Order: sequence, then C-alpha cells, then structure tokens
Amino acid sequence: MREKFQPQFRPNSADRLQPPQEKTNAITHQHNPDTPDPTPFGPGSEERLGRSDRFYESTNRKIAKWLSPGPGNRILDAGCGTAGFTQLLAELVGDGDHVDAADTSDHLLEYNRSRFADDRVGKRIRFHEAPIQDLPFEDGTFDLVWSSRAVHHLADQLEGVKELARIVAPGGKLAIREGGVSARFMPTTMELTGTGLNERLADAMESWFASHVHFAEDAVPYPYGWTQLLRDAGMKDVTARTFIHEFLQPFSEEQQTFLLGGLTRWATDESREDYLSEEDRSALKRLIDPDDVEYVFNRPDLHFIEGITVYVGN
Ligand SMILES: C[S@@+](CC[C@H](N)C(=O)[O-])C[C@H]1O[C@@H](n2cnc3c(N)ncnc32)[C@H](O)[C@@H]1O
Repeated sequence: MREKFQPQFRPNSADRLQPPQEKTNAITHQHNPDTPDPTPFGPGSEERLGRSDRFYESTNRKIAKWLSPGPGNRILDAGCGTAGFTQLLAELVGDGDHVDAADTSDHLLEYNRSRFADDRVGKRIRFHEAPIQDLPFEDGTFDLVWSSRAVHHLADQLEGVKELARIVAPGGKLAIREGGVSARFMPTTMELTGTGLNERLADAMESWFASHVHFAEDAVPYPYGWTQLLRDAGMKDVTARTFIHEFLQPFSEEQQTFLLGGLTRWATDESREDYLSEEDRSALKRLIDPDDVEYVFNRPDLHFIEGITVYVGN
C-alpha cells in the first residue's frame, strides 16, 4: 500500500512537518530555510562543496576505484556539484574517453568549466546543464551512472531515480551515494557535555533532514529507504557498501574548517534550535570557540568516523 504513506512524525518536530502536497520537480532541500535562497547552489556554494570534495577525497578515491570504471566506459555523474568525484572518475578512463557530468546550477557548471579548462584530466569531462529528472541522453547510454548526495534534493526522488535508471546500459550499473552512518569525532563522554553528544547530534541531524527532505512541503511521498527506491526504479541485484572515512588527531586545518562549519550551524542557526537542547547548543558554542579552554580541536583524543554508503543496482 505504498500510496498510503503515513509519515511517522517525531513528537518533537511534528509541528514543522507538513504532509506532502502535489508533485513538482522543484529542489526540495534548502540548506538554510530561514533565509530561503532560490539558488542554493549559486555563488559561494563552490567554496562549501569544494571543501567537502577535499575532506572526503581519500575515501572518494576508494569508492571511484571500487566502481571500477575503465577505458572506454561511458560514465555520468548526475548532480556533480564542484565535480571533485567526476575528476576522480575521469582519472580512471582513457585519454580519448569522456565522463559526462550534469547539474542544474549554471553557476557551478561555469565554475567547473573554467576550473578544468587547462587540466589534462579535466578536459575529459563534458558538463551539461540538465536536471536529473529529465536528462538529455538516450536510453541505455551509460555503463556507470553515479549520483552523490543529489537525489535527496529532488521533490520526487522515485521519478529522478527512474530517469537515472533509464540511461543505464544493459550490464551497466547505477550507484547512488546517500544515507550512510552519521559522522562522529568527539569522545563518548566529555566533562562539559556528559555522555552521548555524538548521538544527540546524529539524532538532531536525522530529524532535521527528515523535516527538510522527506516531509518538506513539496516532497512527493516515498515510504521506503534507498535499496527499495532503486528496486522500484527498475534496478536489479541491489546492494549496498559502506566505506569508512576515518582519521585521528592532528586534524588538518582543512578538516577542522569543514567540521567547524557543521558544529557552528548546530550551535548558532536559529532554524536548528528545536532539534538540540539549549544545554547542548551552549556547550557547542564553547567547543567551537578557539579562545575557550574547551575548544574541541585542542583535544588530543579526537577520532573522526563516518560511514559513506553507496547503493548499487544493475
Ligand atoms: C549536495 S550537492 C552534491 C554535489 C556532489 N555530487 C557531492 O557529492 O559533493 C547537490 C548537487 O546536486 C545539484 N542538484 C540539485 N538538484 C538537482 C537536479 N534536479 N538535477 C541535477 N542536479 C541537481 C546541485 O546543484 C548540487 O550541485
């Protein structure tokens, strides 16, 4: 009875969750709903996405190798962002080959085109301004269709994944990076916060994500997780593999900046205050203050762990 989707609203966020309205191709997930930006991937977003490309590069490289594209393979990166992963895929094909990359942000596409203009590997990438829901490719064009953290932005995720499935060649695969296991890097107990801060942050993230993505105003309801979404889109032999992204202190400046961005949003964004207690937000404000004795990056015992899940169907 998939049509009769009854979202299990969390008690602490029920008032923010609206039943889905009508079907639309709009981008659902705005990263800062208090200051709605009609182009959330417009000017400035290249900095955040580029930082994320660098933060995850070592694990992304393992994932790209595991996907094992090779010379002659036809590959699409759908929702490519700043094309960090596209670049890793492009390294694995031959010099005469191309990797196609699609995105709806003309700003990011322009940024990518100029960034890669003089780069030997970058020249293998062909950028297209095209939405995942309506891609300008014939049925069965690609040996590998990859989409990372883009499908969750679609109002109708099943429609989007069906379109991705349509362009997979017989014997090819569709691989989607979504979901995974929440990042954590603080010790299980700290004097300032007591036990469980990592878990409370992960729980807050899950609630925030659900209310902004799955139950966003324009979201078309889909009641199952990623594996079933791939099956319902027509993919066979669906599997999942989780790659652990992990490192210890000393965190590099780049890693610290990336993580500080997330902690700062939880400590200070008004739009997130209902998801985390005032005590936790106050503690976070101290943890992100470099002048405070509690400044988190002064701790020698930090250990970052995150599970990056890739769902694959044939
Ligand atoms: C969170 S970013 C992920 C970028 C990159 N794939 C990564 O994993 O870092 C989401 C990307 O999806 C793009 N996007 C959002 N809606 C899209 C759509 N309907 N079709 C294609 N791209 C879309 C955005 O412009 C943005 O570049």
